[in-house]
Amino acid sequence: MRIMRAAYASRFDADNPLTALEVGERPEPEHPGPDWVTVRVRASSLNHHDLWSLRGVGLAPDRLPMILGCDAAGVDPDGNEVVLYPIVADPGDPRGVSILSENHPGTLAERVAVPAANLVPKPAGLSFADVACLPTAWLTAYRMLTTKGRVDEADAVLVQGAGGGVATAAVVLAVALGKRVYATSRDAAKRDRVAELGATAVEPGARLPERVGVVVETVGAATFEHSLKSAAPGARVVVSGATAGYEPKLNLRRVFAMQLEILGTSMGTPAELAELLALCADRGIRPVVDRVYPFSRVEEAFARLNSGAVFGKVVLDHDA
Ligand SMILES: NC(=O)c1ccc[n+]([C@@H]2O[C@H](COP(=O)([O-])OP(=O)(O)OC[C@H]3O[C@@H](n4cnc5c(N)ncnc54)[C@H](OP(=O)(O)O)[C@@H]3O)[C@@H](O)[C@H]2O)c1
Repeated sequence: MRIMRAAYASRFDADNPLTALEVGERPEPEHPGPDWVTVRVRASSLNHHDLWSLRGVGLAPDRLPMILGCDAAGVDPDGNEVVLYPIVADPGDPRGVSILSENHPGTLAERVAVPAANLVPKPAGLSFADVACLPTAWLTAYRMLTTKGRVDEADAVLVQGAGGGVATAAVVLAVALGKRVYATSRDAAKRDRVAELGATAVEPGARLPERVGVVVETVGAATFEHSLKSAAPGARVVVSGATAGYEPKLNLRRVFAMQLEILGTSMGTPAELAELLALCADRGIRPVVDRVYPFSRVEEAFARLNSGAVFGKVVLDHDA
């Protein structure tokens, strides 16, 4: 059996997820099926999903130890530079699918096995670090704005909790699509940075100068009431996460009187990932990267994400 270095969860800690993170040797991936291939990882990125896994949310105890990580870019067995689409068919899962690191080992390792159909060519103009940011956070934001939010029908967009990976992606993409973008953040320094991305930055809960056609909501309980208040008649409030709690205060009168659409979404399709890659390559759009860490400092990268101080994506360089 060949071994490789990896970052993995060997137990859960709901309060201190960093204490459940292990970095060490794990067996190289085995192919669960004939159509799977092993990719040598060149870059990966962290997502809040990895912290949820360490807390025991979305990862079953009987799957431990589990290599973490949803996102990666690397080199396939034929030497092609590829991005990994992170969702795999999984008949045993109630959703019929799972995300890498839920039922199959994730990307925070030297190598990861995926179905060959999940390999997407890396556009030449984008770096491994750039494309490693796209498959989860950026794909989620892209689908929230386009397929779900129908942003082409809107003039203005509100993004809640602007410092996060999904949120910075939503700001950059909505600005690139020509929308007026408002973004909330609890942190004054993050508000300054989101303004540099082309958004009008406001404090959480602030009254906007106009109502918006699309709200990008990943914060949850702390911001949802503001999301509804900021929505124009017929607006789409698109929800893909609830970092600050799953049970917001909900004014149903506002929902029906303003004919709002509250839409849940998760990740995106392979076609949407291909569209996103093309959009980034064609328009010169680059992910907002908070920091790049060598893989040898993966614990520091997790601590950075867990601190809540991030602005954009935390990336791991597996070659450094
Ligand atoms: N369903 C899906 O497919 C999918 C995909 C990706 C992510 N998600 C979910 O979406 C959420 C965001 O993911 P991410 O990777 O972008 O996370 P992240 O990079 O860790 O960002 C989280 C952001 O949420 C805001 N926030 C956190 N706690 C808050 C609080 N108490 N009050 C107000 N704002 C708070 C912060 O914004 P400020 O500091 O700027 O205020 C922070 O920047 C997570 O819950 C994740 O699980 C879901």
